Amino acid sequence: MDTLKIIRPDDWHLHLRDNQALETTVPAAARCFGRSIIMPNLNPPVTHVEMAYQYRNRILKHRPANSDWQPLMVLYLTDNTSPNEIYAAAESGFIHGCKYYPAGATTNSDSGVTDLNKMNSVFKAMQETGMLLLMHGEVTSTDIDIFDREAVFIERHLRSIVEKYPNLKIVLEHITTQQGADFVLNHSDNVGATITPQHLLYNRNHMLVGGIRPHLFCLPVLKRDTHQQALISAATSGSHKIFLGTDSAPHTQDAKESCCGCAGCFSHHAAIELYAQVFYQADALDKLEAFASINGPDFYGLPHNKSKITLQKNSWQLPDSISYEGSQLIPLGAGSSLNWELIG
Ligand code: DOR
Ligand code: ZN
Repeated sequence: MDTLKIIRPDDWHLHLRDNQALETTVPAAARCFGRSIIMPNLNPPVTHVEMAYQYRNRILKHRPANSDWQPLMVLYLTDNTSPNEIYAAAESGFIHGCKYYPAGATTNSDSGVTDLNKMNSVFKAMQETGMLLLMHGEVTSTDIDIFDREAVFIERHLRSIVEKYPNLKIVLEHITTQQGADFVLNHSDNVGATITPQHLLYNRNHMLVGGIRPHLFCLPVLKRDTHQQALISAATSGSHKIFLGTDSAPHTQDAKESCCGCAGCFSHHAAIELYAQVFYQADALDKLEAFASINGPDFYGLPHNKSKITLQKNSWQLPDSISYEGSQLIPLGAGSSLNWELIG
């Protein structure tokens, strides 16, 4: 099999940033995706419907003329989010989820939620309106090792939230562990998960053995190889609960190659090809379409895209760097070769 035609995929977790960054990030998203869920961790964060409306307009100004790619907006939850904001978001028609960041967990999460127990009325409103809860599933307590943050979050918080709100649709974003995959696969159809290309292609040895590779640093941080294998199994299992979410998160080269480097990997230069590489290596290319193009819209209650994309088996080299915000960024897999290429 030398070509693969699949329904146009969507990206259910994306950071576009704002202003000048949109010149790079919006065309990169429209390159192959039909729709993208837009993360709200701007500075200041997108906490209100009106802010999401304005941000969506700024994004759409950069959409290439021949594209009908759609940004699906998300509200950023804080300790002060009111149930009324959730009702307004549900009515807006362009907001498709609310993002839970534990305060301090990652880039621009300082205004995130400090105590999940404060969120009862908001989660109730979300359950009632069918608004999805997108969770950065990590605890931030200083006594918890960074490699255990996701597993501890599941036991300390996620189990009880799922029990308390059985009809709330929850996406455990960018899962990185066997525990994350097992939790999602063993719960109701209201619990799904996204997986990034970096967590499928790499483990912490790739990031740390022989020297620190800051361009592989993201949060949740890469885990050991057994977790990487569990994620590959989950993504290629054919389960309808697991879907594509790149978490493509651009930072300039300077911001990454620093004594306190930022977390985030940019993958939209080759997103679908990076996933195709994983599925090809796992001998599971027949499962790529469900993961990339079907499971996500089904979970979000949206139609599948009408158009298709074509991938061809062809070795090609990823760029070493990409222009970004008047500077440059180093994309995921910079300079390496992939086996599948998007040709249309
Ligand atoms: O690695 C990450 N980068 N993880 C996140 O949760 C946020 C993201 C970013 O915004 O840079
Ligand atoms: Zn993210």
